Amino acid sequence: MKMTRVCAKALAFLFVASGMFANAQAAGGGIAWDKAPDRTNDLVALQNGAKLFVNYCMTCHSASYMRYNRLTDIGLSEQQIKDNLLFATDKVGETMVASINPKEAKQWFGANPPDLTLVARSRSAAGQGSGADYLYTYLRTYYPDESKATGWNNLAFPNVGMPHVLWQLQGMRQPVFDMTSEHGREVKIFKGWEQLTPGSMTALEYDHAIGDLVSFMQWMGEPSQKSRTRIGVGVMLFLLILTAFTWRLNAAYWKDIK
Ligand code: HEC
Repeated sequence: MKMTRVCAKALAFLFVASGMFANAQAAGGGIAWDKAPDRTNDLVALQNGAKLFVNYCMTCHSASYMRYNRLTDIGLSEQQIKDNLLFATDKVGETMVASINPKEAKQWFGANPPDLTLVARSRSAAGQGSGADYLYTYLRTYYPDESKATGWNNLAFPNVGMPHVLWQLQGMRQPVFDMTSEHGREVKIFKGWEQLTPGSMTALEYDHAIGDLVSFMQWMGEPSQKSRTRIGVGVMLFLLILTAFTWRLNAAYWKDIK
């Protein structure tokens, strides 16, 4: 009897705690996330994503669980990697480490640029979407904000310390809000974007590029996903054939005894 009561209390506590956790996330989480396209099987998209990642993110961010020569898995040759992607080092066997000094980064941006190898996996949130959805939204919702040290703010990550490093591609956009009143309180509802200055890409091209970049980050978080599925199917086939053989062998063994 006592045990059931303790169990019930523990359950109630878990319920309340998980509710609080969900609320805390919703409060700090900014806007609803868009669904990211999944191009983790598309080698051309992954290669484009890798190029964007190396060119625009690795000044500040590392992907220190990733080696350059692993990029041969997305269809690049070692020569292509050497010619197009090696800026921070000259060895293809090296891990992808940022060029920035972490101490200086902390001073400049007020926060350390985190390692991005696993970020597509770590940033998912229940009820909001996958880590890829978060990244896809985050990289598309920057807007200029004079009150910030970097001059930028973000709808998915309010008061972020990272500037909009892709602004030349996207141009500057301002979010547009509708004001409505809810229970007598003014509430801002996000309506859409107004393009202030054009970028070198159209909005559609930019979304496409970010889709590639996010797919690359997803692949990077789990590079053996594809080979694992392939090996899994192979193993199942092998076991099936082995079963057939064993069956026959068993019959052959018992043939003379019966
Ligand atoms: C100029 C340096 C710089 C560059 C270049 C840069 N970042 Fe960042 N990034 C930062 C800093 C600083 C933070 C930490 C921000 C914070 O915690 O407020 C950050 C944080 C992040 C985060 C974590 C957000 C979160 O929710 O915790 C992601 C994801 C990210 N960057 C992705 C990228 C991608 C993708 C690129 C390339 C397109 C990139 N960054 C380029 C400085 C940079």
